[in-house]
Amino acid sequence: MMEYVGNYVMAVRDLGMRILESISESLGLEKDRIVKILGDQGQHMAINHYPVCPEPELTYGLPGHTDPNALTILLQDTLVSGLQVLKDGKWVAVKPHPNAFVINIGDQLEAVSNGEYKSVWHRAVVNSDKPRMSIASFLCPCNDSVLSAPKELVKDGSKPVFKDYTYTEYYKKFWSRNLDQEHCLEFFKN
Ligand code: OGA
Ligand code: NI
Repeated sequence: MMEYVGNYVMAVRDLGMRILESISESLGLEKDRIVKILGDQGQHMAINHYPVCPEPELTYGLPGHTDPNALTILLQDTLVSGLQVLKDGKWVAVKPHPNAFVINIGDQLEAVSNGEYKSVWHRAVVNSDKPRMSIASFLCPCNDSVLSAPKELVKDGSKPVFKDYTYTEYYKKFWSRNLDQEHCLEFFKN
């Protein structure tokens, strides 16, 4: 068992790093620029279990939120759906896709990309007939990395969208509020 988990964790990390490199390049930056800003990233894994709920319209498995970290790699149950994302003001179901991960942009990628990438509002609903499982892997910036956008992404003469702050500061703020309140990044805007 440990061997499977260990292999999974390392493969997911590798995938996450490659995605972060591609995102960096897509912004016109050096491949390793964003990874360098995030520092020595931590990695958390959550195995979510959503039990059957007799009255699913009364609650959520997880209320609407954005992920406070940089990048989330989610493995969904292929047989039971439950994840929804907010798109143009509407909650849209993300159908599970066999052999595919869901990649969520977290708050820190929005910050270091100077708002070019947006962290996505999402939630999990529950079902009345089937339990659901998901495995979320979170790549998290080093606690004392300063999450400021590279100068190249900030237009001449204007301020960066967000203030400089450390991940520790952000994380504290994030968990001091209700999950489904206003976007936590709003507190860090310039
Ligand atoms: C999370 C999350 C969604 C899901 O763990 O942050 O958004 O489908 N999970 O379980
Ligand atoms: Ni989430």
